[in-house]
Amino acid sequence: MKYMMLLNQDNGFIEIMMQDGDTVEKIVLDFKERSYPIYFEEDFFKLPGILKEKNFSSKVLIITDTNVDNHYGEQLQHLLSGQGFICNKFVFQAGEQNKNLDTISLIYDECLKHRLDRKSVIIALGGGVTGDIAGFAASTFMRGIKFVQVPTSLLAQVDSSVGGKVGVDYQGSKNIIGSFYQPSLVYMNLKVLQTLPKREFISGMAEVIKHAVIYDYDFFEYLEQNIDSILKLDTNTLKYVVWKNCIIKSQVVQQDETEQELRAILNFGHTIGHALESVLDFSLLHGECVSVGMAAAAFIAYSNNLLAYNDYERILSLLQRFGLPVKVKDIDCNKVYEEMLRDKKQEKNKLKFILPVRIGRVIQTTEVTKENIFSALEHVT
Ligand code: GLY
Repeated sequence: MKYMMLLNQDNGFIEIMMQDGDTVEKIVLDFKERSYPIYFEEDFFKLPGILKEKNFSSKVLIITDTNVDNHYGEQLQHLLSGQGFICNKFVFQAGEQNKNLDTISLIYDECLKHRLDRKSVIIALGGGVTGDIAGFAASTFMRGIKFVQVPTSLLAQVDSSVGGKVGVDYQGSKNIIGSFYQPSLVYMNLKVLQTLPKREFISGMAEVIKHAVIYDYDFFEYLEQNIDSILKLDTNTLKYVVWKNCIIKSQVVQQDETEQELRAILNFGHTIGHALESVLDFSLLHGECVSVGMAAAAFIAYSNNLLAYNDYERILSLLQRFGLPVKVKDIDCNKVYEEMLRDKKQEKNKLKFILPVRIGRVIQTTEVTKENIFSALEHVT
C-alpha cells in the first residue's frame, strides 16, 4: 500500500512515507542541533542497531512500569544486553498516582547505583506516564542525559512521546513541574497496539480525534470513514493513523517548541479534561477526560455561535462512535471549576480555552465567561 509522500522542506522536516516493502520508515523532527527521528517499526529488533549507529553509550537504563514490564520489559532488556549494552531496568508501580517526585527520586537512586554518566541513556518504555517521568529524570540527572522514547500505548505514540514535554504532578496539580526536553529518538513498535487493553486504546483515540479537529479536516474525514478498521486494529490503518498524528504534532511543536502561542492548540479539551481527571481522582483515563473536555469546549463554541451545529454534531458523533464518553455522571461542577483555576492553562489569571470554529481549525481565547463554563459543565454532567 502506498499512502502518500510529502516533502516539506520549508519547515525543515522530511517525511519518508510507507510504501509496500519499505523498511525505513521515519520522520525527522527539526530542532536544529537537537533534531531527532521517529521510527515506525513492527518489533523492537532494530533498536539496538540504531543506538549503535548513533554512537550512543553502551550504558542504558530502561524505565518502565509494572504493566508494561510484564509484556516487554524483559524482552527489551534481553535484546539490548544480547547486543553488548550494559542494560539495567527500573520498574515503578503503574498509575498516574506515581507520576511524582518520589518516583523521580527512586530513579535518581537507580542512576547512581548503576553509575550512569553524562553519556548514558535513559530509555522510556511505556505509556504517557512513563515517558513523562523518565524524560524528566533524564532532563535533570547530571543536568541532562540522553533520552529515548519507546512508547507502548496509543496515547504515547500519537501524542506524548513527541514534542519533549516531560514532568510530574505535584500537590494534586497535573504536570505542574517539568521541562521541555526533546528525546534523542523515538522508536515505535506498532505491533504493541495489538495487546493494549481496549479501554486504553480507545482512550488514546481521544488525542487522535483532537489532532484532527484542531488541524486537519481531511484526517477527520478519514477517521469518520475508517472507524471499523481502526477498531479492528488493522495494521496498515493504525500505521497511517500513528504516522499522521506524529506529522500533525511535529508541525505544531516545530513551530512553537515551548508553547508560547501555537502549541497551546494541542490543549483542546484539556482545560476541562485535566480538571475532571483530578476531581475524579484518576478513575477515568486521560483520554476519556479529554473526550468529555472536547465535548464541553465544542459546546461552548457552538453555543457562542462560533461553531456550526453540523460540525458540533460531527465532533460529538465521532467521539461516541469510537466509544469515548462525552458526559460524566455524579460530578460537582463547582469542584471542577475550582480545579480548573489551579491548572496552568491560564493567561493573565484568565482561563484559556481552545475552541473549534470549524473542523480542522481552532481559536485560542481567554474570553469564555464563568456562565459559559458552568453551562458547558452542566451540559456534560
Ligand atoms: N500534549 C500536548 C503537548 O504536547 O503540547
